[in-house]
Amino acid sequence: MDKFIINGGKRLTGTVNISGAKNAAVAIIPATILADGPCILYNVPEINDVSIDLRILTEMGAEVKIINKNTIRIDAAHIRDMVVPYEMARSMRASYYFLSTMLNRFGRARVSMPGGCDLGDRPIDQHLKCFKALGADYTIEHGIVDIKADKLIGTQIYFDRVTVGATINAILAACKAEGLTILENAAKEPHIVDLANFLNSMGADIMGAGTDVIKIRGVNKLHGTEYTVIPDQIEAGTYMIAAAATKGNVIINNIIPKHLEPITSKLRKIGVVIEEHDDYLRVIGQERYEKTTVKTMPHPGFPTDMQPQLTALLTMAKGTSIVTESMFDNRFRYVDELRRMGADISVDGKVAIIEGVEHLTGAPVKASDLRAGAALIIAGLSTEGITEIEDIYHIERGYEDMEIKLQNLGADIVKRVFTDGMRKAL
Ligand code: EPU
Repeated sequence: MDKFIINGGKRLTGTVNISGAKNAAVAIIPATILADGPCILYNVPEINDVSIDLRILTEMGAEVKIINKNTIRIDAAHIRDMVVPYEMARSMRASYYFLSTMLNRFGRARVSMPGGCDLGDRPIDQHLKCFKALGADYTIEHGIVDIKADKLIGTQIYFDRVTVGATINAILAACKAEGLTILENAAKEPHIVDLANFLNSMGADIMGAGTDVIKIRGVNKLHGTEYTVIPDQIEAGTYMIAAAATKGNVIINNIIPKHLEPITSKLRKIGVVIEEHDDYLRVIGQERYEKTTVKTMPHPGFPTDMQPQLTALLTMAKGTSIVTESMFDNRFRYVDELRRMGADISVDGKVAIIEGVEHLTGAPVKASDLRAGAALIIAGLSTEGITEIEDIYHIERGYEDMEIKLQNLGADIVKRVFTDGMRKAL
């Protein structure tokens, strides 16, 4: 029920520090279950999906200590339960990483079918195929995946489609399996490399992460480690577009420019000026941008997690843009909300056709998922008038301190928190 209220039309200027990557952190945190000793993680984003992961670990008996805002110590030695609390697991996608890590450690895991953003059909057949290939059996009953294996044995697995989640689960399951596992047609996202680096720092033997063939030689033991999570390229891309949309001038700090190339090159193509430095970018916004055609693809293609934000920018570009979503069936639910703000968009299946208008107007809107919410913030910031965004819990699942970071860049955005009393009165 909490809302963001934006009084738009202010140019963003200054520096924004990018937090650790959500999709790396939510894989690395469950991976600490595999260590014999404590792990200290730095640059962990303070977001709701991370809080849920930490609560799951605590409920199962791990010792979790928040050393400071972004540093966490996890000692999973005393985990006693191989059942992940149902409602917690159901509330996020990445809870499926407990399947592989608990299976690996205890030979059994019971985890509810995952939740996460509603982006259409999101099957887990490729995850289950990996577990089976490694020697596990599973049942799915009453919404719970119950998976068992006496022993996990290395094997060769070809993914029928490129999937981030199944690639990560296969790595997590195979890193202590007997012998060699070869993953083919693997996903190549930066967070997959980050997870492999984390596991290797614990003593795993994983080669090829970041390419489509990953080789994992199982080891008997993994030890505790200290590790810094990579910066979040989607958070960085979101602020890049916010800077461009408000004709701003913003330094996007604490990033790995290479991870941002698919976003940077598309933004440059439509006319955004971007200066690249070692660990920061400067984005210099322009009066108006050119139309474009874009299709979301697995890394290093244009990321689906940036599709709504780019669409929000293109609603104000010159001419007709075409955006094709190739990863998920239903990732245009935010379009109705942008229409409330005056955008001219038609959607036919997985294709959105955007007729650029000169400007949008503020309106009351609702976030339907995490990146949809980010797109509405961008639209609200760039437009004169008041935009009220409801259901911001979606946004808080994945963006650390978003309103504070935007306020520091000069945006007029506030979070209106509804107390329980206020909720009851409504
Ligand atoms: N797919 C299958 N079978 C499977 C697994 C996936 O058909 O067993 C399909 C999916 O339905 C989808 C495509 O393959 O059409 C790609 O799915 P993928 O497995 O790559 O996505 P995911 O693991 O469910 C992660 C991120 C998403 C991000 C996608 C793509 C996490 C926790 N989530 O999801 O992040 O969009 O990869 O990059 O890492 C977000 O951060 O906003 C977000 C939705």
